[in-house]
Amino acid sequence: MGTCATCDAIPRRAMKNAPPRPRRSVLYVPATNAKALAKIAALACDVVIIDLEDAVAPDAREQAREAMRSFVQQAGRPACELVIRVNSLSGEWGTEDLLAAVACRPDAILLPKVNGPRDILDANDALDEMDADPALALWAMIETPRGLLNLREIAELGRNPSARLGCLVAGTNDLLKETGIRPTPDRRYLQSWLAQIVLAARAGGLDALDGVSNDFRDLAAFAAECAQGRDLGFDGKTLIHPAQIEPANAAFSPGEAEIAEAQAIVAAFADPANAEKGVIALGGRMVERLHLAQAERLLAKAGAAAFNAGLQGIDFHGGVARK
Ligand code: COA
Ligand code: MG
Repeated sequence: MGTCATCDAIPRRAMKNAPPRPRRSVLYVPATNAKALAKIAALACDVVIIDLEDAVAPDAREQAREAMRSFVQQAGRPACELVIRVNSLSGEWGTEDLLAAVACRPDAILLPKVNGPRDILDANDALDEMDADPALALWAMIETPRGLLNLREIAELGRNPSARLGCLVAGTNDLLKETGIRPTPDRRYLQSWLAQIVLAARAGGLDALDGVSNDFRDLAAFAAECAQGRDLGFDGKTLIHPAQIEPANAAFSPGEAEIAEAQAIVAAFADPANAEKGVIALGGRMVERLHLAQAERLLAKAGAAAFNAGLQGIDFHGGVARK
């Protein structure tokens, strides 16, 4: 496989205990859309998911794999994280997809329609049999009623590094289809399930990504949905169109005030006068050491996002949200 000059310099894996990687904007690109694939290098998203599943027509599966293979061979790895969504391994296309995906050396494989931990473990076994890089991660789509009901056991695998699980991805279109709940603009009937996905992800030490917004022309509605996803605790949002990248990056980046507050907390605990203290007063508010850990994580994420932006030649405004 061809490599681009920048690739080898980039930390490739979301390893446990590695600094957090920004996953604010996670764009699906159908493997069969050559024009869209050609755009990837110029896009400012944190992650690209080359899709072999829902975005590909059933009779174009082989063509999709070929298109992905030749794209990665020619273009090399993109500067952002690279994820490949395969078809379900229990179906007729999954194993061929997985072989083709592993050969492209992505950061992660995204498994659709995960119903329970067995789906992850089976994928893990298949990867081991293929001698896949041990650092290759698995991401799981939560988009079926069974997947939701088994969230606890799925997320539990996040505590086992050899299970490779790195991220839970909400599949809201399939959830709507499978359950029959109404797709209201405020997602009021989806919210409790979205919150469960975030909760499970945290219990397993995983990242959590919000579902897509289909109406890619209504960017005001999209910004509101991003803000909702951020407030629910998601790390970022899955996207279908390049116009959604900028608003997602803005919504999931810490704001100027949040960065300043985090810096003040880090500085306060670094003060030798506070070295022995578990709790201090800062600006009239109680601040504990748990807030220090939170502040450090926020600054690490902001720094990583700024690093990503630098790689892509984008003026990131120092990691500050453009709200
Ligand atoms: N990734 C990269 N580029 C994309 C893109 C994507 N997901 N979606 C659109 N583009 C490109 C188009 O190719 C087009 O390029 P051009 O200016 O060189 O012609 C440009 O952005 C503008 O696209 P636009 O005309 O606004 O949209 P479209 O009608 O071409 O495509 C969709 C609309 C919804 C079909 C397309 O965005 C898409 O396929 N999105 C992903 C769908 C998907 O993966 N679904 C599965 C997961 S839910
Ligand atoms: Mg789906």
